[in-house]
Amino acid sequence: MSKKIILGVSGSIAVYKSVYLVRLLIKSGYDVKVVMTPAATKFVSALTFATISKNPVSLNIIDKDTWSNHVELGLWADAMLIAPATASTLSKLSTGLSDNMLIATYLSAKCPVFIAPAMDLDMWKHPSTRSNITALQSYGNYIIPVGTGELASGLIGDGRLAEPDDILRYLNEALINKDLKGKKVIITAGPTQEALDPVRFLSNHSTGKMGICLAEECAIRGAKVTLILGPTHLQCNHPEVKTIKISTAQDMYDVAVEEFKSSSIAIMAAAVADYRPKNTSAQKIKKKNNDMSIELERTPDIAKTLGENKTHEQYTIGFALETHNALENAKGKLKRKNFDLIVLNSLEDKGAGFKHNTNKVSIVNKSGDVEEYPLKPKQQVAIDIIDQLISIMN
Ligand code: C5P
Repeated sequence: MSKKIILGVSGSIAVYKSVYLVRLLIKSGYDVKVVMTPAATKFVSALTFATISKNPVSLNIIDKDTWSNHVELGLWADAMLIAPATASTLSKLSTGLSDNMLIATYLSAKCPVFIAPAMDLDMWKHPSTRSNITALQSYGNYIIPVGTGELASGLIGDGRLAEPDDILRYLNEALINKDLKGKKVIITAGPTQEALDPVRFLSNHSTGKMGICLAEECAIRGAKVTLILGPTHLQCNHPEVKTIKISTAQDMYDVAVEEFKSSSIAIMAAAVADYRPKNTSAQKIKKKNNDMSIELERTPDIAKTLGENKTHEQYTIGFALETHNALENAKGKLKRKNFDLIVLNSLEDKGAGFKHNTNKVSIVNKSGDVEEYPLKPKQQVAIDIIDQLISIMN
């Protein structure tokens, strides 16, 4: 699901936040084109935005005797976001004073428009600004609430540009299809730790990043999400995701089996330990002069248990991290664990798997169809996985 967005940038000290915002938008699967007012270029150059957005930046309606097609730009977009919107830009937007490319594009856009104001406390409170905001809302535009805190003037109060993460969340809430509304989803993520003694454990390199991205994507699409997360320094920030922290495979199993009873979907992205020490020493194991060996026993297989017990209304998705015979092994796992989909990532692919912010996956369904995807940020991989899930559910 690629979404095309125009980011209009006007001249405020908060422009620096918009650079990071472009990054966030791209990571979330948006195609971004930036249009700047002349004043905005005094704070951050067009080159910065062009480089980060990977698209040319629109600056002038007339450029060296050529007329720029703001109508085409306005029609290209699925949404327009103006961030930061200064008091001056708000005034021009509300009256249609089209003296720069940003306002001309806004007047040509037929898509939803989101406005994130930024200005000083007293400018924000002024009746002129208030009436501009009221007018813009009456035209159907969305006003993203300003933040409160320290302002460029040194004053403290309302008027800060909303934080980029909050702007992104606001956009996603308004624009994204709520195709998982009413569904409860459980997601296992991260490693497990199997204790040998009070100071040592068996574990792996998983960070839980892929599972956290999946949890966020499901929540954005309206699901009620429970994330069952192994020990990791990462956390899920989406307010609609309930995180249950566990440490062993047995704990993860117990929580997952219980939570799945009231869920429609389980996504097993955790790197669960297959074996644990048969005995855990209550005291630290002392070293001796001779070698030692540890007896291991199998941990319960969460995915297999859920797969065996699921109803026709429940779906399970598994992951396969393979080092060789990848596709064959993944297809075998899909059958054995009764998954509806399996996501295959290979450690042979550069930038895929543990610790990376990117992943390169293939998704295999029950009929054996394989969809291969290029290397992408994990947020976008999560979009692809959930799109595939929606298509089999329909
Ligand atoms: O068999 P393998 O461990 O490679 O299978 C990987 C898939 O099974 C993943 O989705 C993983 O989360 C899940 N799994 C599980 N419980 C285990 C082992 C793996 O849910 N004990």
